Amino acid sequence: MNSLIDNFGRSHTYLRISVTDRCNLRCRYCMPPHGVELKEREEILTFDEIERIARIFVKLGVRKIRVTGGEPLVRHNVEEVCLRLSRIPDLETLAMSTNGIMLEQKAKALLKAGVTHLNISLDTLRPERFEHITIRQQFEATIRGIETALQTGFPSVKINTVVMKGFNDDELLDFADFAKALSLSIRFIEYMPFFGNGWNEVRLMPYREMKEIIESKHRLIPLETNETVPGPAKDFRIEGSGASLGFITTMSDHFCGDCNRLRLTADGRVSNCLFAQEKFDLKRLLRSGAPDDIIEATIRTAVILKWEKHPEAQELVKMQNNIMVAIGG
Ligand code: GTP
Ligand code: 5AD
Ligand code: SF4
Repeated sequence: MNSLIDNFGRSHTYLRISVTDRCNLRCRYCMPPHGVELKEREEILTFDEIERIARIFVKLGVRKIRVTGGEPLVRHNVEEVCLRLSRIPDLETLAMSTNGIMLEQKAKALLKAGVTHLNISLDTLRPERFEHITIRQQFEATIRGIETALQTGFPSVKINTVVMKGFNDDELLDFADFAKALSLSIRFIEYMPFFGNGWNEVRLMPYREMKEIIESKHRLIPLETNETVPGPAKDFRIEGSGASLGFITTMSDHFCGDCNRLRLTADGRVSNCLFAQEKFDLKRLLRSGAPDDIIEATIRTAVILKWEKHPEAQELVKMQNNIMVAIGG
């Protein structure tokens, strides 16, 4: 039974756990140009703390956990916490979102630790653009990471591509070909505003425009979801192929009505929305010896205070406290 139901009747079955605020890339759409202040090591939840909180969430009805960052694979021994999470009775899905750089070394261990769903970021198929957007020379490592993930046998591997006008919108058809060649699933994500990430309406490409470009060459067949609560993407199969394309339409067509997500930051705070202004400190409770029922009550408070939908773009750009790399997407 799910007891994490908010005032708008939404049931929360999906928890995104950020295991680190550190990252080995510097993507411009994610991090402010001057970097971010990193939390002291002792501020970050230990594996014991993550496991305890996760168990409480699962008891309250969470059935899917996605491990995020920063970049989750830079957390030392991340496979250990994955193993601990995957062993929680009643948890059905353990997923991870990664930039892929370290997958060549880590993919096998992750699969062994119970991770079944991997989402990997790749915003361009051109090495020089990759370096421009991530400020690091890691294109080849990322591609090798994707290839390794595909060969390792994960039940699901998807690519995440943030689309920005004037940067990579001319690669949509190349990505569709890439998806076809590898029978991949790619999700094109509308560029969202976060603190210091250079967001500008002019650089936002609404999904209808993306879809039109792709449909100039391919027929897209809507995919029915077999999940009870649909995910954030509108998904299509490319006709005549094993590839699928999805669109995550936060800016032009929000999907808050179906939201089933909660977030736990690396420093132990619960957030009820990607754009939430207020976070609820579980770490302090944990470290002051609070029993499970107090922690449960705080989680329920976070759920009850969730807004119906996130504000419009003009408001989101003014919100100054949400740094993407610290939330984990
Ligand atoms: P699935 O579990 O495969 O559906 O993955 P996901 O889309 O939930 O996770 P992922 O980490 O791959 O995120 C893809 C994009 O969706 C990123 O840009 C996230 O910031 C965005 N995203 C994830 N959850 C939410 C959400 O609740 N609201 C909004 N607006 N965007 C989200
Ligand atoms: N807009 C949309 N998606 C973003 N991501 C990071 N920053 C943004 C942004 N400003 C995506 C990453 C990764 C996922 C966790 O979040 O590309 O795939
Ligand atoms: Fe890039 Fe993800 Fe790191 Fe942000 S957290 S800089 S999107 S890899």
